[in-house]
Amino acid sequence: MKIRKLQHDETPPNDLLLLADPSRELVDAYIAEGECYVAEENGERIGVFVVVALDANTIEIKNIAVREDRQGQGIGKKLLQSAITVAKENGYRTVEIGTGNSSIGQLSLYQKCGFRISSVIKDFFTDYYDEVIMENGIQCIDMIRLRLEIQ
Ligand SMILES: CC(C)(COP(=O)(O)OP(=O)(O)OC[C@H]1O[C@@H](n2cnc3c(N)ncnc32)[C@H](O)[C@@H]1OP(=O)(O)O)[C@@H](O)C(=O)NCCC(=O)NCCS
Repeated sequence: MKIRKLQHDETPPNDLLLLADPSRELVDAYIAEGECYVAEENGERIGVFVVVALDANTIEIKNIAVREDRQGQGIGKKLLQSAITVAKENGYRTVEIGTGNSSIGQLSLYQKCGFRISSVIKDFFTDYYDEVIMENGIQCIDMIRLRLEIQ
């Protein structure tokens, strides 16, 4: 598997991006603003992440996703570690990521990679998304923000 930065004239992997974020409008907005990285294997795209700088010191992982048939095989962890390396190499001190209160697996992955909960944006998913989002039998309502301080 190879992870590389997508060039601005290449089509983003929208099918993968929409796995992590059902809002095409929000995806299009942060793709235009940030940098998109893809994981490829045998010429196929199997993973993606998007990073956007929030300020001179902080970068946010706006989207991270693995193709459904390849989930649970350690690829998400490799993508997250690669996003942290991108942040380090570009001189950022803090990496942020947001996820839903119902995203149990994602909260597990991020904390296993060293992220700590920093804040909660109450009602984010009910305020910004038209559809009701359900995961693990829990309604996704609040955004849990997590942060990793880079040494
Ligand atoms: C979230 C996602 C990127 C993780 O990628 P993945 O390749 O499936 O995850 P990995 O196989 O690398 O797992 C990483 C770790 O998270 C843990 N994990 C994953 N799902 C879990 C769950 N439901 N419960 C507990 N732990 C879980 C694994 O145990 C693993 O830990 P380990 O290395 O100690 O075994 C992937 O599942 C995905 O694309 N989901 C849909 C899109 C999405 O929700 N993106 C994030 C939006 S915030």
